[in-house]
Amino acid sequence: MQQFPNIMNPEDKEKWIKAGKIASEVREWSKSLIKPGAKLLDVANAIENKIREKGATPGFPVNLSLNEIAAHYTPVKDDTILLKDQILKVDIGVCFEGAIGDTAYTIDLSGKHQKLVEASQQALANATKVLRVGVTLGEIGKTVEETIMSYGFQPIRNLSGHGIAMYSIHTSPSIPNYDTKEKTALQKGMIIAIEPFASTGEGRIKEGGETVIFEELSHKAVRSPIARQVMQDIEAFGHVPFARRWLDEKYGVNKVSLALSQLKLNGNVHGHAPLVEISKGLVSQAEHTFLIDDEVVCLTK
Ligand code: CO
Repeated sequence: MQQFPNIMNPEDKEKWIKAGKIASEVREWSKSLIKPGAKLLDVANAIENKIREKGATPGFPVNLSLNEIAAHYTPVKDDTILLKDQILKVDIGVCFEGAIGDTAYTIDLSGKHQKLVEASQQALANATKVLRVGVTLGEIGKTVEETIMSYGFQPIRNLSGHGIAMYSIHTSPSIPNYDTKEKTALQKGMIIAIEPFASTGEGRIKEGGETVIFEELSHKAVRSPIARQVMQDIEAFGHVPFARRWLDEKYGVNKVSLALSQLKLNGNVHGHAPLVEISKGLVSQAEHTFLIDDEVVCLTK
């Protein structure tokens, strides 16, 4: 049987339960922040601070992605975007002693796209029902695809759910959002995130816009003093993806731009650009993290 990195060590079980519980609490609490007139930057800071208040750290910067942006936007320092009538995806990661809970929801502030929100929610609910040891990735993808298409929308086929391991938010296997016919089966002990995306567009994303989320690749030595200093902060974030906003607040935008370009060139970090639907279709998302055991546990319920 193929070895996967997302098989939980039983000794870590309580950490996974705790990370999931905090993620769930922060998600529910955060819903009251999402209203017309709210500043996206304030929402992001409030969510990330709430995670810290609960004794955990962000497993990645909170993703607050609007309309045709499916994922990977988080506010920048001095961000001026205001919520008014957009479709907002809130994707929250909580890291507790290495275990990570990953959960997302969508709010439609326009009042016109509730069906789109329901499509990804229902796809997640239906995928949850087929989860068990031995279910194939193709079967999960087929459930997501059929549910979203039954609402008249397209699943985003080049975005997927994923395995999660300690300090590692994305591992194999990828959990598809359409019927890939893959015969790979879920194994007992796997931690996975299922995250259907539904779109009014073609159902594909591409990278677009300024990169605001980065991830550490290697600790290798770097010469420039500012890059070295920034590298220390990056390691203190806990070996998880980070927002350049977290650095900008400390060093200012210019120094951070310099440091990040040096760190990219040196192979220390890479960026995750915003992911935009190729036909500018609107996008909704729903996500939970699961432990695949004899009894499947939704960790972020
Ligand atoms: Co995820």
